[in-house]
Amino acid sequence: METKTIAVLAGDGVGPEVMHEAVRVANAVVERFKRSTRFVEGLVGGSAFEEYGEHLPPTTLDLCKRSDAILFGSVGGPLHQAHLPKWQGCEANSILALRRNFALAANIRPARVYQQLLAGCPLKNEIVSEGIDLVIIRELLGDVYFGEKSTWSEGGRRYARDVGAYSEDQVAVVARVAFETARKRRGKVTSVDKANVMQTSKLWREVVRETHRDYADVILEDMLVDNCALQLVRNPGQFDVIVTSNLFGDILSDLAAALPGSLGLTPSASLNDERFGLFEPSGGSAPDIAGRGIANPIAQILSVAMMFRFSFDWVDEADALERAVEGALKDGYRTADIFVADGEKVSTAEMADRIIERLG
Ligand code: IPM
Ligand code: MG
Repeated sequence: METKTIAVLAGDGVGPEVMHEAVRVANAVVERFKRSTRFVEGLVGGSAFEEYGEHLPPTTLDLCKRSDAILFGSVGGPLHQAHLPKWQGCEANSILALRRNFALAANIRPARVYQQLLAGCPLKNEIVSEGIDLVIIRELLGDVYFGEKSTWSEGGRRYARDVGAYSEDQVAVVARVAFETARKRRGKVTSVDKANVMQTSKLWREVVRETHRDYADVILEDMLVDNCALQLVRNPGQFDVIVTSNLFGDILSDLAAALPGSLGLTPSASLNDERFGLFEPSGGSAPDIAGRGIANPIAQILSVAMMFRFSFDWVDEADALERAVEGALKDGYRTADIFVADGEKVSTAEMADRIIERLG
């Protein structure tokens, strides 16, 4: 039997405690389905900085290179400590370097409002009653994130520049991921750009349309990014798969992550073309609630399900895990972030227990 090696980078804040539960749940799935995995821990973020003086030390990078997937927690520290070297550039140094090192071009961020958690959604009931189930596919290696950057002074004034560029191949790669994803869902892709203003967006739109020729069974629409932000709030039920560039995707995916009502619910995947990936919760390290056993482990647990599905092709395992999470929610178990009066309040570990019991 093939053993999958998983690099476990728990990071800072609530990262270690939700990761602990996610690994426990993952092991329970692996046991039930008679699979074989090996979880190997590495330091990242502030905790790596304390030990090695850098946020992504070479030993951690090597560990990732020797693994079949990266399970990532979260990095970053509390606001009042932001001035400490330990936290400066922490997120960008950890996460951008991993994206670049492993050519993780496609970022998949689902946003789903569970029927049983409708009350937690910040939108009005009449807007969400039909349910929300969309996924944002964000390009991760182009745009202003990795373009040339500079700052300079001229005539006593300060200037700065970030170059945002795209090649047609970069666009085509994520467009394909979007069409393939839509095929397994409701068959609709909304490509989001700013083609009324930007050259990169004009190229984006052209290449997405050309790529669409291989996916005639999928409906494609274009939408300008400002309108998309508005539509996500006014009528999010219209969306199935949204595909967009790096910076627009960063902003829209945070907007979408607000819809389920808690950042503790939403996982994400970043994949390269060999389906190697990094899997992490959408939320941050939440240092304000760290160490108290109250953080919601669901986003980290669902990140495990995405890893099973996308990197290992373990579809039954992923389905079972997602069903178990839904079952625990249906049966009223709630961590503090999603607690409502008629639910039963549980700790981080108890939520994981309730999910394990429902693995069937
Ligand atoms: C994200 C984050 C990162 C990004 C930051 C931490 C560099 O906001 O994953 O969305 O902008 O991509
Ligand atoms: Mg972001």
